[in-house]
Amino acid sequence: MKGLILSGGRGTRLRPLTYTSAKQLIPLANRPILFYAIDALAAAGIDDIGIVTGDTGREVEEAVGDGARFGVSITYIPQGAPLGLAHAVQVSRDFLGDSAFVMYLGDNLVRRGIVPIVEEFKRTCPDALILLAHVEDPRQFGVAEFDGGRLARLVEKPSVTTSDLALVGVYVFNSTVFDAIDAIDYSDRGELEITDAIQQIIDAGRIVESHIILESHQARVATWKDTGRLEDLLEANRLVLDEIEPLVEISIGPDVRVEGKVVVSAGARLHDCVVRGPAIIGAGTCIESAFIGPYTSISDCCTVRHAEVENSILLQGSVVEDIVGRIDSSLIGKECLVRRTSKRPRAHKLLLGDHSRLEMS
Ligand code: G1P
Repeated sequence: MKGLILSGGRGTRLRPLTYTSAKQLIPLANRPILFYAIDALAAAGIDDIGIVTGDTGREVEEAVGDGARFGVSITYIPQGAPLGLAHAVQVSRDFLGDSAFVMYLGDNLVRRGIVPIVEEFKRTCPDALILLAHVEDPRQFGVAEFDGGRLARLVEKPSVTTSDLALVGVYVFNSTVFDAIDAIDYSDRGELEITDAIQQIIDAGRIVESHIILESHQARVATWKDTGRLEDLLEANRLVLDEIEPLVEISIGPDVRVEGKVVVSAGARLHDCVVRGPAIIGAGTCIESAFIGPYTSISDCCTVRHAEVENSILLQGSVVEDIVGRIDSSLIGKECLVRRTSKRPRAHKLLLGDHSRLEMS
């Protein structure tokens, strides 16, 4: 069986970060989301993996490499334009050949992995296996509707539906999917939808099995997260941080308190601070006269000085300094500067990229 990870798309809901970077490379606990997808496929014994890339392909290739460090082999498949998930499968036809494959959306996080799903597919040999989860707002997803216990209809982002079962971004197919994709048209939003292709497989009388991985959207710990929006990304970061192995790789002075599950990478410098886990501090980062709160990931080479940060993600090289009040529920991109200044006039001075969000109290 092969793996196909989709790592193109525009990531419009995570602008401005996605103007310059792939959303699949945003880190959770300081590792790109995409790496967790590769881990999941590798753990299921899938070592021949194609990654479909878009405009950010070069950056994705630089981050992932040839796959050797994950114990897999990676083939990059450029998708000329972001024309939908089924289009991504279509452009991967040569790579996939006649093999069955797991298609994994590179911005999805499935906490318990995919081993049972791959085993179920191998045991029952359907034409397609889809994963479903109960969600609060099905209008943001592909939705599965059942008729007397039988999977009857799949609709992409319906405005009205009676079902709260969303399609999770992990699918298993055999090569029947290519005929199905050939038979569908572009949707109203101009994409070849994988949801329509699966509907086509059902309509052709083929076997589509479904597997509910999240029994209730009120489950305290989610097993699946589509990280398309800031809130979901922060939640995914919390899920991953909850499971980190604490490891402090530097020696810590008496002016530093580390509480709970904390990772401090080699080369980080901590002075006069409290780090309350779960949290991770990257290599070469300096934390001084600061509080790093629960559920916070600070990437490499950042500085947090005279400031407090909680439930947030800081990307590489960012600086947060002299802030009154705590920074909470924030995603700060690479090389950003967030600083209080005493220069007059005393005002908020902003240089924000397009589609930035700034909420001040
Ligand atoms: C895509 C699919 C949708 C699925 C979702 C899962 O949507 O089109 O059917 O439910 O992934 O993450 P997107 O997140 O690309 O809008």
